[in-house]
Amino acid sequence: MHLPSFIWLWKMAAWSMGLSLLAYLLLAVTGVWMFRMRTSGSSRFGAPLTGGNEGVGSPLTLPYVRSLHYTIGISMVSLVLLLLAIGIVGTLGHFGSLGHSSHLVAGLIVVVLVLLSAVSATQISARRPWARLLHIGINIVLFVGFTWVSLTGWIVVQKYLP
Ligand code: HEM
Ligand code: HEM
Repeated sequence: MHLPSFIWLWKMAAWSMGLSLLAYLLLAVTGVWMFRMRTSGSSRFGAPLTGGNEGVGSPLTLPYVRSLHYTIGISMVSLVLLLLAIGIVGTLGHFGSLGHSSHLVAGLIVVVLVLLSAVSATQISARRPWARLLHIGINIVLFVGFTWVSLTGWIVVQKYLP
């Protein structure tokens, strides 16, 4: 395949990555927002308020923030899967094989972390408080993963630049 067709592919990767990072930022903001609503609620009303069971007196906006967080979360999962597809298709199209740098490992780790984050999020409930801790923990590790995949992606994209 010719070089220009790869330039637009890697541009698409860079844009998707920008949107993924924006999504991550918004998820962090809405996540902390939910956390603060929940904990300020628990100090005023006694019992902690947990996922799917807000209880009496929870802030009325909590369900809206939660569904916003969920929607952005699903967008981020889709973007990362798109990036995986672009990476694999582009690399196979150019080299005919995978595994040309640590970017492959970084990419696969990020995909696994994002999926684990989404799965752990679906487990958050009053009966499973550990799922929330797991969700938050995975997302902190995911930040390191995002940094790693961006740096290695930026390095490998140099090969395709004129
Ligand atoms: C992978 C996509 C994601 C999905 C589908 C998702 C979904 C959820 C859901 C359903 C909850 C439970 C809300 C509740 O009922 O209390 C939650 C909680 C939370 N999420 Fe996410 N999330 C995602 C990514 C992220 C990311 C990337 C961050 C941070 C950078 C984050 C930070 C948080 C925090 C801090 C909470 C706890 C809120 C609380 O303590 O009440 N999430 N998430
Ligand atoms: C979550 C984000 C990303 C994922 C999951 C991902 C995934 C992948 C995967 C699995 C490959 C195949 C690597 C190999 O077999 O050696 C690849 C290749 C590639 N990716 Fe990414 N990628 C991501 C972000 C980026 C970014 C931000 C860029 C920079 C614009 C980028 C540019 C590239 C390039 C240029 C290649 C070709 C590799 C080479 O020539 O050695 N990727 N990507």
